[in-house]
Amino acid sequence: MISKSELNVILEKILYSIEEGVHVIDIHGKTLLYNDEMATLEEMNTKDVIGTNLLSLFPSLNEESSTLLRVLKTEKPIINKSQTYLNHEGKEITTINSTFPLYHKSEKIGALEIAKNITKIKKLSDQIQQLQDQLIDPQENTRKGRNQYNFDNLIGKSSEFIKAINIARKASKTSSSVLIYGETGTGKEIFAQSIHSESIRKNKPFIGQNCAALPENLLEGILFGTKRGSFTGAVDRPGIFEQATGGTILLDEIDSMAPNLQAKLLRVLQENYIRRVGGTKDVSIDVRIIATTNQDPKFLLDKNLIRKDLYYRLSVVNIIIPPLREREQDIDILSDYFIDKYNRKFNKDAWMLSDGVKDIFHNYHWPGNVRELENIIEGAMNLINQEHVIKEEHLSRYIIDYNSKIHKSINDLQRKDYSEKGKRYDPVRERQDLNKALETYEKQLIIKALGVNQQNITRAAEMMNIKRQTLQYKLKKYNLEL
Ligand SMILES: Nc1ncnc2c1ncn2[C@@H]1O[C@H](COP(=O)(O)OP(=O)(O)OP(=O)(O)O)[C@@H](O)[C@H]1O
Ligand SMILES: [Mg+2]
Repeated sequence: MISKSELNVILEKILYSIEEGVHVIDIHGKTLLYNDEMATLEEMNTKDVIGTNLLSLFPSLNEESSTLLRVLKTEKPIINKSQTYLNHEGKEITTINSTFPLYHKSEKIGALEIAKNITKIKKLSDQIQQLQDQLIDPQENTRKGRNQYNFDNLIGKSSEFIKAINIARKASKTSSSVLIYGETGTGKEIFAQSIHSESIRKNKPFIGQNCAALPENLLEGILFGTKRGSFTGAVDRPGIFEQATGGTILLDEIDSMAPNLQAKLLRVLQENYIRRVGGTKDVSIDVRIIATTNQDPKFLLDKNLIRKDLYYRLSVVNIIIPPLREREQDIDILSDYFIDKYNRKFNKDAWMLSDGVKDIFHNYHWPGNVRELENIIEGAMNLINQEHVIKEEHLSRYIIDYNSKIHKSINDLQRKDYSEKGKRYDPVRERQDLNKALETYEKQLIIKALGVNQQNITRAAEMMNIKRQTLQYKLKKYNLEL
């Protein structure tokens, strides 16, 4: 059993090593605990803070605006609340705080606050907002440089891709919500822009917003706008739902949106009005929503990463863009298209890919999809001079390495698959050969599963319905470790 004093040492160590600021006050508002991170965050000296009353330390706060004091009074926890305040040197700090009342034997003894510093993120988000505001062209009422794609920019002939285009074209005739699912780099943004630019909304704004990377409160402000004073530092600013009136909003990586905000978004979509954060007035909205995700919707629903009700509301029209590795025909078409594009851009005269490069492209698993193909061709086009053929020496090292690894595995397999005399193994001939044949087959399946799952062992194991550990053991056994 651990002693109380040992436990104290451990807790203190944790308190002073974590990345979150921790601040505890007693029932009189005097600081009991204040860790190093909090001291750095607020640019205070721990010595000055301990034992001092909160309001004398932070004159800009009062009983209402200080989350610690408010929780002390109301005894209701506040979770993930963004707070902007001035530290004693007058510097503005933004944090995301969770604040809880503290009890000992059911008697209130103080309040605890855990704070994450997001000052930099807040600044960035303000800058992005300002830039976005500047980008709105008052004449055209649309964002410059953003809505530039249409269906002509979507290259590809494979049947699943054409199916996706046909659905998107039909969707551009209505204002229903659209959910686009495709891996990174498959062209979700181009699809979304194309739908907008073929629709009757084409002369109104098209505004994209990524739902990942921003804390919930900031994203909420960006989407629905803020009212002055909704939290300290907030100004009156319309959100993109107001800015995009009559147009289209693209919500990228919808599955990264916090569940709370997903619920708010659903309400907005059902009721067709928004209320700015901290505001009291309802503003009716007229926007079309296109949402994207790069994860399989089935997986998102299973793992509760997207609310079911919101999913059904968004996926009125469903567009699935297949990954590049599943549309081999398009690899050649897109390669030609990008060679052409960079010929013009770089003033070169490349005609085609060498057979070796074509072979590599068809065996590669393209985790970055069309974006990766374009980058590889752009890279190659930098390296060729007067030649007309893109060869292996013009490709990035990593794709060559990947190719030789896969080829080696396949060659080994094929060599083992045939006897020395060039005759095919007959698995029925003897028991040992059957085992070998099974191993060969197993190895092929593993290589394929890894390829399809971008070398992700967990997903490959899931696909083959075996344990991750089992797959790892087999990779070792067949010398396939990557
Ligand atoms: N079918 C296509 N035809 C031509 N170019 C394409 C196609 N698909 C993708 N691209 C190109 O690939 C790049 C990535 O496209 P886009 O930004 O639309 O992908 P995305 O699916 O939104 O990716 P992410 O999930 O990373 O945001 C762009 O430069 C685009 O020009
Ligand atoms: Mg995108």
